[in-house]
This record gives sequence, structure tokens and C-alpha cells, in this order.
Amino acid sequence: MNLNTIDKNAAPPTEEPARQYYFMAKCRQYVKEIEEASGRRPTFFIQTFGCQMNARDSEKLAGVLLEAGYQEAESEDADFVVYNTCTVRENANLRVYGRLGVLHGYKKKNPHMKIALCGCMMQEAAVVEKLKKSYRFVDLIFGTHNIFKFAELLVSMFESDRMVIDIWKDTDQIVEDLPVDRKYPFKSGVNIMFGCNNFCSYCIVPYVRGRERSREPQEILREIRALVADGVVEVMLLGQNVNSYGKNLEHPVTFAELLRQVEQIDGLRRIRFMTSHPKDLSDELIQVMADSKKICRHLHLPLQSGSSRLLKIMNRRYTKEAYVALADRIRTAIPDIALTTDIIVGFPGETEEDFQETLDVVREVRYDSAFTFIYSKRTGTPAAAMDNQVPEDVVKERFDRLLKEVQRISGEMAERFAGTEQEVLVEEKNHQMEGCVSGRLSNNHVVHFPGDVSLIGQIVRVRLEECRGFYYMGHRQEP
Ligand code: 5AD
Ligand code: SF4
Repeated sequence: MNLNTIDKNAAPPTEEPARQYYFMAKCRQYVKEIEEASGRRPTFFIQTFGCQMNARDSEKLAGVLLEAGYQEAESEDADFVVYNTCTVRENANLRVYGRLGVLHGYKKKNPHMKIALCGCMMQEAAVVEKLKKSYRFVDLIFGTHNIFKFAELLVSMFESDRMVIDIWKDTDQIVEDLPVDRKYPFKSGVNIMFGCNNFCSYCIVPYVRGRERSREPQEILREIRALVADGVVEVMLLGQNVNSYGKNLEHPVTFAELLRQVEQIDGLRRIRFMTSHPKDLSDELIQVMADSKKICRHLHLPLQSGSSRLLKIMNRRYTKEAYVALADRIRTAIPDIALTTDIIVGFPGETEEDFQETLDVVREVRYDSAFTFIYSKRTGTPAAAMDNQVPEDVVKERFDRLLKEVQRISGEMAERFAGTEQEVLVEEKNHQMEGCVSGRLSNNHVVHFPGDVSLIGQIVRVRLEECRGFYYMGHRQEP
């Protein structure tokens, strides 16, 4: 869309995305005024907290800011700073408040500076109250549901001398075809659905990301084809629970079916996805993965706990036995797959016996890697109201034991690929090892090997010579 042809004096269009392009054109005027006043091109910086969803959202925010005439800065000492926040655990929130203090320092020195906060944390009323009271220097606050309105919100911010706050409780709106600025030219996240309907009793995500909404398969395919035409070889399909993709569409489609269609796209080399809920993982999906040449040999399958008793209270809707059997079926169908997981330690009422059940599953499934989290009480979730919270020292001690076990096993698991030759997507120059580049195997492991930056974005064959715990050292094999 050519922003120069938009009539900024006309009333804003009511339909999307035309409305947002109109506001981008308006933003340009304001950014130009800053440029004239300061004598230099205004800059922006986006700090992303949390998951891949947020990383993708930040690329959309960057797309709008570039259209508006900002250029990207290397640090937070910029004219426009956005914090795209996460609230899944309390420490994510604390980090935001800590860094806001630093931002205030920059703002006092730069009269043109604007600060915006968005993302999951802003969907919590208590957070917004606190910001209104104690962080008056913030210019714009919005949430997860109206991020497509970013250009419009920017204009409101430029036209107001007070804090602009726009938070929606939920939405069923999905706006397509807005600008995006990808971080990597050769790989990209692709949202396939938004929100979550699961209500695990510890988790705040359903409250801050709203109900499940799937994108139409043809919109997803269209986006991926355009990405491939633009140089992308790997996509990561994103959703809180990709296995329930398509259930609420007018013409329902399964996730497995969507994958089959994505696989057909010429030029696309690799397909990843995140995250799978074990309760919804179908045998059809396992079959599609086993048959596929493009779907990566990696499955992230959050366990959370190995205790069937706790799983029930967590509202996970599977048992220890069902989970282990599922992992077995996956490993049998796809022997070289890497299985990774999330585990929470210290959920209310967790006993030593419950914890031992978790260790059991860890030893039985043998994860290639596992993210371990200390339970964090999130206000508004059912678990926060449970009165049998586990003492901190007990949790810490269990956490350390779990981490040790997880690391021992993942080290052993990584050894099984040492000595093999694998396809690697080269992602970046290695900044620690002179003359080396780094890339990822299909199973998501990282390998460093001698090579130059011209390889970035290519898929090459690499012999994995040595396994050093979390990564490999290798050498490129001639094609
Ligand atoms: N406390 C600790 N970890 C949590 N997670 C989600 N909610 C909480 C919480 N309240 C973890 C889960 C999830 C991952 C993204 O974050 O393990 O899979
Ligand atoms: Fe954080 Fe979860 Fe929101 Fe992602 S979805 S940004 S992990 S709270």
C-alpha cells in the first residue's frame, strides 16, 4: 500500500486494514515533525519479553513503526521505546518495572521520547492501575487484543498530552495484511491461532490472551507463500495450543490437515510448530509428522507434572500413564525426534511423592531438553486461591534436583547424534568463535562450525563431531 496516496484530511476509513494504513500515513506527519525539531531521523527500540507469540507481535509493531518513518535503534536510548510484556510468571512483571526506571532517565534527557507498553501484562487491571499511579511518564498502554490498531493508537498518543490507555477484554477480530518487519530474512513465525480455552489452573494466559480463534487456512497458506517468495525457508506455526487449531472455523480443519497443506508449498524447506497440548495430540498428527519431509524432528510437549493427582488439579486432562504412552507412540513412529517439555515445580499441594512421579516421567521419556519453572502465583487463577502453597525452600530444593536430572539426561540424549551428518539451517555468525557460524538441526539442536556469513539462510550438510552438552561442534560436508 502506498501511504503517499492516502488523503489524510478525509475521514478515516471504517474497514480494516485500510483504516490502519490511513493512520500510518498520519503518523508519518508527526514523525516528520520530530525529525524537523530534532534535526535527525527519529529512532525506535522494541524490547520483547516472553514467548514466540510476543516475538511475532513485536515484528508487527516494528513493521508499523518503520512505515511511520522511525528507524530502528540499537538501544533503549531511542525516541520511541516499546516494551512488549509477558505475565506468565511474576518475575517477568518485576523485570518490566525495574527497567521502566531506567527508561525514565532517558526520557528526562530526550523531550521527543515516547514510551509504550503492551502485551499480556497490560491485560491485568492491577498492573494498569499501578502504572497510572506511579509511572505517569508512560505515554501509551494497550493490550493483546487491539495490537492491530497500533497505528491508530500512535496517532491518539501524538494528539494527546496524557497517558493513552486502550485495553480490550477480548475480541474475535483478526486483521490480515498489516506490515511486518521480520527479524530473520530466512525464517518466520506465522500465527495460526490466538488465545487459549484450556484454563490450566495455574495459568494466566487464557485471561490475558482471550478465547481461541483460528485464522482461515487459506490466509495462513497465502502468508506462507508470500514469505517463501521473499526468501523464507523455515516457518514456525504459532498458537497456544496448535492441536486444537481449526475447531472453531466455519468449515473446521484439523491441525494435521493444515500441516499437509503447508507441506505442499514449493520452496518451503522446514516447518516447526509451537505449542502442543498432550490432551489434543492426535494419531493423525503423528502420522503426518512421520510421513513428512519438511516437518522438523522436534516436538515440544509440556508435561507440567508427572503426578496424575496434581495433573487433575492443574486441569490438564491427561494422566501420567496417558502422557508416557503418547510419548512412546511418538518415539516409535519417529525414532529420531527430539522431545522437549515444560515442567512446573511447587504447584500448590505438591508432595515429595508427586515430585517423584515427575522425576519418574523425566527418566522414562528422556527429554532432549526441558524448561523447568518454579510455580508462580498468578492472581485470578484458581491455583492462586489454593491454601496449600509449598514453602519456598522445599520448592527450591526440588527444583535443583529436577534441573540436575534433566541436564544429565539431555546431555546423554545429545550424544546419540554425535558422529552423524545432518542438515543445518545456518542462522548467524558466531560471535564467540572466530570464523564460525551457528545453525540449527531439524531437531532444534544448535551446531557451530567453521564457515562464513554468506552461508546464513542456507541449509547445508554438517558432520557433528563433538557434543558439548547443549550444542555441537561440527564441520561442513561438501554437497
Ligand atoms: N508458574 C510457573 N510456570 C508457569 N507456566 C505457566 N504458568 C505458570 C505459573 N503460574 C509455564 C508452563 C507453561 C510455560 C509457558 O510456562 O510450564 O508451559
Ligand atoms: Fe508471556 Fe504467555 Fe503472554 Fe506469551 S502468551 S507473552 S508466555 S504470558
